[in-house]
Amino acid sequence: MKLLLAALFFFSSQVAVQAATNTDADAIFAWAETIYPDLFAPAGQTSQSGAGYYYRFYPGSKSYLGFRADDQKIYYLLPNGPVSTAGDISTFLPQAALPPDSAEKLNAYLRAGIYRNWTADPSVHPSSTSAHPRSRIYFNPSVVDTLTKKVSHQAGAAVVKEFYSQDNNKVTGWAVGIKTQSDSANGNGWYWYETFSAEPGAVATQGRGISICSNCHSKGQDYVRAALPGQ
Ligand code: HEC
Repeated sequence: MKLLLAALFFFSSQVAVQAATNTDADAIFAWAETIYPDLFAPAGQTSQSGAGYYYRFYPGSKSYLGFRADDQKIYYLLPNGPVSTAGDISTFLPQAALPPDSAEKLNAYLRAGIYRNWTADPSVHPSSTSAHPRSRIYFNPSVVDTLTKKVSHQAGAAVVKEFYSQDNNKVTGWAVGIKTQSDSANGNGWYWYETFSAEPGAVATQGRGISICSNCHSKGQDYVRAALPGQ
């Protein structure tokens, strides 16, 4: 019995502090590439494993970004510097979950697929509205929390809708909603972005509180129309 309790305690303490994985590290790398495009260039390098690190090498800037699962820290190495730590990966995860609300940075963020580790619809499906094509919706941790509690969303809540072509599974654009302040302010507390191209710097409809999105989204739970997957 004692042994069983000890085993249970060990197990529950393990699940309480969930260790970050290489998938989390990929989200941090992709996020860092959009925030520091000069330090880590070109963006989108393939991650590799070696010498205890999960890392990306950037040939353009001759730099590295890395993650160690054993101490849960993010590391970087610039051309003339020693290997340095940027801190615990847990401090970066919320930032990587928060897309930037400027059109240019957001476009880079979307193309890097940083939102792909969020809670998502299980598969691509037709939209329930003619306003959006076939799609798959992703919810960041903040919006998952407030949709579950059925309360107003916090600043930093974000939803990303990937658009898909009818005949294949290629992403053909995105619609995004980001709450920029906790007060919804009749829709002005939301920044909206929509583009029908996956090319870099594609033309987008975007802006804070724009009525073309707000008017219809105001029918949702604090401007979010979709339900969480499985609800
Ligand atoms: C005519 C109504 C309508 C308009 C206009 C509209 N949407 Fe939506 N949108 C919806 C509905 C309904 C859903 C959820 C269901 C679905 O897509 O199947 C949705 C889903 C979304 C989602 C996923 C999160 C959520 O709220 O459900 C985003 C992000 C989004 N829309 C962004 C936009 C943006 C940006 C615009 C303006 C450029 C816009 N929408 C205009 C009706 C609309």
